[in-house]
Amino acid sequence: MASIFENRAMAVLCLIFALLQVANGAVYKVGDSAGWTTIGNVNYKLWAANKTFQLGDIIVFEYNPQFHNVIQVTHAEYRACNTSSPISTHTTGNDTITIETHGHHFFLCGVPGHCQAGQKVDINVLRAPSVAPNPPGFSSQVPAVTFPPSSPTDVSANSALNMHFGKPGWLLLVLQLPLVFYFSNK
Ligand SMILES: *[C@@H]1O[C@H](CO)[C@@H](O)[C@H](O)[C@H]1NC(C)=O
Ligand SMILES: *[C@@H]1O[C@H](CO)[C@@H](O)[C@H](O)[C@H]1NC(C)=O
Ligand SMILES: *[C@@H]1O[C@H](CO)[C@@H](O)[C@H](O)[C@H]1NC(C)=O
Repeated sequence: MASIFENRAMAVLCLIFALLQVANGAVYKVGDSAGWTTIGNVNYKLWAANKTFQLGDIIVFEYNPQFHNVIQVTHAEYRACNTSSPISTHTTGNDTITIETHGHHFFLCGVPGHCQAGQKVDINVLRAPSVAPNPPGFSSQVPAVTFPPSSPTDVSANSALNMHFGKPGWLLLVLQLPLVFYFSNK
């Protein structure tokens, strides 16, 4: 039988892994190798379209500061390429912006004509659907053995956990499973 101490230890371990996952957001360089530019007609809408941005992710704008900048604006101003009341302005040429809230984050280049030419991007962090109200491993009342079996066919549970922890976090949880069984079978 696993002792209460061991179960507690596992819960703490799981929590630490989950917290590490939150702290280590993915880094996305806007436009990938092209960077933040008007050259080459980079489609920033397409660039953002296949990415699942999450809280803590870091968005990097890399550009020549002589020619461009980064201005965060409201949705209306984004649509109109209007920079009259910026939410924030970045001008270093290597701006790293950590996304800390859900929803849309609209950025454009404030140099005249650039936004109209398509130098604008919408970073949208979807609100993850609520998973289990009390994920396994977070409560010291729940024995560690109640981890969901990770069967490859259990797609919905896997994707729900991916939403919650991100793929690396989920992987870490899976890697802990042998540890969990080791403790619980002792
Ligand atoms: C998005 O698409 C690009 C190329 O079309 C691909 O290289 C990249 O891996 C995709 N990213 C994701 C998260 O699917
Ligand atoms: C830009 O937005 C401001 C309000 O934020 C508005 O007063 C102004 O008329 C707008 N300019 C254009 C060209 O749409
Ligand atoms: C941008 O800044 C990051 C660190 O904040 C650094 O690792 C990277 O090399 C910089 N890129 C350029 C082109 O200066």
